[in-house]
Amino acid sequence: MVSALPDDETLEVALGMAVRAPSVHNSQPWRWRIAGDHIALHADPDRHLPHTDPQQRALVVSCGAALHHLRVALAGLGWAATVTRVPDPDHPDLLATITTTPRRPSDVDIEMTAAILNRQSDRRRYADWRVPPGYIRTVSTRANRFGAAVRHVPGLLRPQLAGSVRRAATRHADDADYLYELTAWSGRHGTPDGVPARNTPPPRPTDEIPSRLFAGPALTDAAAGSDGAEWLVVCTAGDDRRFQLSAGEATSALLLAATDLGLSTCIQTEPLGMRDLRHDIRRAVLHDCAFPQTMVRIGWVPVNTAPLPSTPRRAVGDIVDR
Ligand SMILES: Cc1cc2nc3c(=O)[nH]c(=O)nc-3n(C[C@H](O)[C@H](O)[C@H](O)COP(=O)(O)O)c2cc1C
Repeated sequence: MVSALPDDETLEVALGMAVRAPSVHNSQPWRWRIAGDHIALHADPDRHLPHTDPQQRALVVSCGAALHHLRVALAGLGWAATVTRVPDPDHPDLLATITTTPRRPSDVDIEMTAAILNRQSDRRRYADWRVPPGYIRTVSTRANRFGAAVRHVPGLLRPQLAGSVRRAATRHADDADYLYELTAWSGRHGTPDGVPARNTPPPRPTDEIPSRLFAGPALTDAAAGSDGAEWLVVCTAGDDRRFQLSAGEATSALLLAATDLGLSTCIQTEPLGMRDLRHDIRRAVLHDCAFPQTMVRIGWVPVNTAPLPSTPRRAVGDIVDR
């Protein structure tokens, strides 16, 4: 079938849903270009966070999540997407080109589209109910389709993961450049990006694996109790931009599948920006077989927990070139 792009109105809706993708510090480091018969996804180096993400890995992973969100939205709107990843080695910021053909949406397409609107990063304490192993398998299988694998961190290895996360937090607490960058991206001034104080709870010193700390946390946490969160590591066999993009797509697929099951999720990548700690996690949790790209905390928020306010996003018009 000949490829054609949807009409402008449909594209605007799909790109508006792609913008809801998670991104490191809600930096939204992407630009879309609509060019004739295809859409191009570009990394936006102006939105790079050098002290949080020195290798631009989280930047590319974030773009992968937006790419997956766009595919899901297009599918829900009746368009199948064909993606070419990192098509031009001379232009590494051109991360993907996307062509489309009409296709009737399946029930799963519609469920995943709905999950885009319901997914949020929930950094609060989770309830002590266990996540059923079948649910872990379901969300992992969705992620596997994108060329990444998901490792469910067994209890035995959690202290090692916790050690790396704590070492990263300790180093960051003494890193003035990092702290300045974090504050600048803490959404304090009504900007359409950054992580607002209203979405981050105060630190929980008793957590086995701590969350990243943000400036001036103002979210009321869920009631104290043991936390039944599980940890998943999204990993890839290689570590170039193509693999990082796939990891972003896989992470997005995992998050949307979990949201569809009623689970809460939050990404944690703090130690992955530090080469030695990332290597420690690779060795301890992945047995030196794969590169860790994101870590996801997954669980249930307690009943009667207040809904989270949604995080801001830039307008579609500000991120699309025609
Ligand atoms: C690559 C990547 C890395 C992230 N790292 C962290 C992290 O270390 N800690 C955290 O609390 N959230 C992290 N996030 C979640 C973002 O902060 C979150 O997606 C963003 O603020 C938008 O909010 P939302 O997910 O509620 O829409 C990360 C997201 C991505 C895509």
